[in-house]
Amino acid sequence: MLYRFSIYQLGVGGVAMATPHKSNLSNLRPKWTRPGRRLEGEGREPGYRLSNFSRAYRSWIGPYIKSRFHSDEFRPVLSFLYTDLNCNLDCYYCYSRGRHIPGMTMEVAKRSVGWLTSVGCKVLAYMGGEPLVRKDFILELTRYAAQEGFFVYLATNGILLDEAFIDEIGRAGISTINLAVDCLEGTEGIPKSFARIRGQFDWLVEREEEYGFITFLNINITDRNIPDVKELTELAHARGVPTDYHINEPPLIRYGDYRHTHDGGWITEGSYHGVDALIDWLIEKNLAGYTMVNSVEHLRAMKRFIRRDLRPWSCCAGELTVIIRLDGSFAPCFELYGTQEDWGNIEEGPRFDPLRLAKIKEKCTPRCLSTCNYQVMHYTRSLLYSLQWVAKHARTRLFGTS
Ligand SMILES: C[S@@+](CC[C@H](N)C(=O)[O-])C[C@H]1O[C@@H](n2cnc3c(N)ncnc32)[C@H](O)[C@@H]1O
Ligand code: SF4
Ligand code: SF4
Repeated sequence: MLYRFSIYQLGVGGVAMATPHKSNLSNLRPKWTRPGRRLEGEGREPGYRLSNFSRAYRSWIGPYIKSRFHSDEFRPVLSFLYTDLNCNLDCYYCYSRGRHIPGMTMEVAKRSVGWLTSVGCKVLAYMGGEPLVRKDFILELTRYAAQEGFFVYLATNGILLDEAFIDEIGRAGISTINLAVDCLEGTEGIPKSFARIRGQFDWLVEREEEYGFITFLNINITDRNIPDVKELTELAHARGVPTDYHINEPPLIRYGDYRHTHDGGWITEGSYHGVDALIDWLIEKNLAGYTMVNSVEHLRAMKRFIRRDLRPWSCCAGELTVIIRLDGSFAPCFELYGTQEDWGNIEEGPRFDPLRLAKIKEKCTPRCLSTCNYQVMHYTRSLLYSLQWVAKHARTRLFGTS
């Protein structure tokens, strides 16, 4: 396969933490779990839930129903906008290493919002790299997109957040802040630690009702953070914050300068047992009512995925989801960001040929467990599932995705 350009070819950004991995993490629990203002689902104003419900309906369910009515047209319900590929960190597993690549211009960003509006899409998720390497850009774009009626979703490692910015982006109309954190304290190659964003986390939880946004934690399960995943799940639950899990995936595309082929925290045979036990625990918590973006089915599929025994699945990339690259061109998904194929762009429109996509997916779906596309597939496969999605989130006030 040929690639138009590698987003990660231009050097490795960021700060790698080099502190040793802590094995006895349970001792840390009291340090991390600040006495909660509330437990999950408790203590939030009915108005906050109601406004989240109606915003979610307008942004997700309405566009989805319309998209099904016009199934011969390309009408994605979820878009990812790559505003920057640069990052202030260096997570060893991450394929994003685009230091010094100019970010998206505001003109392209606003035109992207215009194009998304024209195809009925109302969910705009920032992606990268780290979107907050340009905070002013994100603020201005959020204001603009929220005014256009978008559900704006910020995925961030949270380190560059501060109280003033949280208040500003709250006022700007952000809908969801997806805080990526993998461990309690930094470990080599896994720098996204709760220790580094604890203050930001507290302030986000504190302010979400005032501004009407939702915070959730996004955790990547690797072979190095198994005990931490449980701790993070518990501390999020104790504060009424939903969680979302990725399973660490070796990038489908190997870029020339990617240095961590052997130490990206990949899950190998020696970790199967520990990861299985963790997934069983997560499923148990999910069924017990912990608010998780992942369906139980997705969590179960993780076990097959790590053993390279995934069955082909109906990935909706390039159908119900789309990514917009820095220059305003399209691609189906993160994993195919670097493909040289022409998928169209915001000026000329999409070129997602269903037959071509189907052929690609025959090969990639047994090797990829894209969290966002798997959830979209799961919750849109029937009216019943869509209603379950609404019911689940109406109950728990979570309307994010990952
Ligand atoms: C690429 S980051 C961009 C946004 C932001 N910098 C962050 O860390 O959330 C988006 C998500 O991709 C996930 N991710 C990156 N590399 C991954 C990999 N190899 N396998 C699974 N998830 C990965 C991260 O954990 C993060 O939640
Ligand atoms: S996962 Fe996010 S924080 Fe980590 S290197 Fe990639 S873009 Fe940066
Ligand atoms: S399975 Fe879907 S998300 Fe993964 S690489 Fe293939 S098209 Fe992209």
